Amino acid sequence: MATTNTQRGFTSNLGAILAAAGGAVGLGNIWRFPYMLGQNGGGAFLLVYVFFVLLIGVPLMMTEFIIGRRSQSNVVGAYRKLSNGSKGWMLLGVFGIVAAFLIYAFYSVVAGWTLNYIVLSCSGGLAGKDPTAITTLFSDFTQGSFWPLLYQLLFLSLTATVITMGVQKGIEKVSKVLMPILFLLLLLMCVRSVTLDGAAEGLRFLFKPDFSKLNGTCILSALGQSFFSLSIGMGAMVTYGSYIRKQDKLFPTSLWIAGCDSLVAILAGIVIFPAVFAFGMNPASGPELVYIVLPNVFNSMPAGTLFAVIFFMLLGIAALTSTISLLEILVAFGVEELHWKRRTASFVSTLLVFVIGIFCTLSFGILKDFHIFSRTIFDLFDLITASYLMPIGALMMTIFLGWFFPKAEVRDELSNGGAIKAKAFELYYFVLRYLSPLALIIIIISGIIG
Ligand code: PHE
Repeated sequence: MATTNTQRGFTSNLGAILAAAGGAVGLGNIWRFPYMLGQNGGGAFLLVYVFFVLLIGVPLMMTEFIIGRRSQSNVVGAYRKLSNGSKGWMLLGVFGIVAAFLIYAFYSVVAGWTLNYIVLSCSGGLAGKDPTAITTLFSDFTQGSFWPLLYQLLFLSLTATVITMGVQKGIEKVSKVLMPILFLLLLLMCVRSVTLDGAAEGLRFLFKPDFSKLNGTCILSALGQSFFSLSIGMGAMVTYGSYIRKQDKLFPTSLWIAGCDSLVAILAGIVIFPAVFAFGMNPASGPELVYIVLPNVFNSMPAGTLFAVIFFMLLGIAALTSTISLLEILVAFGVEELHWKRRTASFVSTLLVFVIGIFCTLSFGILKDFHIFSRTIFDLFDLITASYLMPIGALMMTIFLGWFFPKAEVRDELSNGGAIKAKAFELYYFVLRYLSPLALIIIIISGIIG
């Protein structure tokens, strides 16, 4: 049976899963996850991360889907409709819009870098360079103004083009093509990496937990990472949830998406750490891990140029499906709340993001010494969003759905109006009402205390 929803959103369950998994899988998995893990002690971080994904991530993703699909709205409209026009709850939606702007602004910097590295690796510009030259190349590029800004703008424009094509013809189509390619490329890279001499040490680093390395900050980082990676706590999944068909089952859909997301993070770890260890590089080198360490690794392996091209394409694809989901939050808001045309909304949002994004790009160059709370603008945006805005947004969201919204309606949405059993509903509701808010409060506070 065709429902009105088929008009509005994704045409199939697979389309919804691939689009949302595309939003979730991104630089967060391939760029951020490995360096966070490298800096936070390896295997123990992985375990805490997976624990958070399953225990809090999946229920929270379901929560966002419920809010989105029930309201058939963008993130601001969703809270307005479901709270019968309460201004306070609407603010939670606005909070999501602000978070989307901040994330997109710094995210597009690193997304732009991937374009530069695709060009570099394709033109052989990385091959045969010694480690010092590769480091200089990275710092010269990122500390500049013109090129990083140009690549950032290019990436933003590419994203805007897809978004302008619409939910079905843009987001869903592109995700259906790019996500399988991403998996394939990633698997290829895995095979290469684990067959390197000395790969075992890297795998041990990734999979063998050392719990003495865990402290409050590590745990908050792991939680922040799981939120950032699953794109929860700020409205991306509310927006995509509003495009999921009424007959699709929200629990399995969320499980698939979270599964894909964690799998890609782990596979990225399997690509990166064996290679890093095999060539004696430093796994804790930070945000430049994939941009400085990996090119050296590629240079020391046979057919390295080919693998460099594959890797940076993969990174670019992952970034693109995520920037698409970021822009869609803003565009859905512009179209539904401000009654703009889709094209206008894409253009205006992109322009605004670029204006903020300029500061993020320049915080590697001429604004390098401009610090707020002893952080550059880029680092500050990253920290504020992943470690604070997303967990706090998620907390407010659970309070809204668990404590203010009628339980019967939650059950109705999760069981597709009674069409499916939703056997674990009580368990979900318990996690929603008690476990997630409690865990979130403890973790937010312990992170602030340090
Ligand atoms: N989840 C994306 C990633 O891992 C980042 C993202 C966060 C995208 C929030 C949309 C919203 O790269």
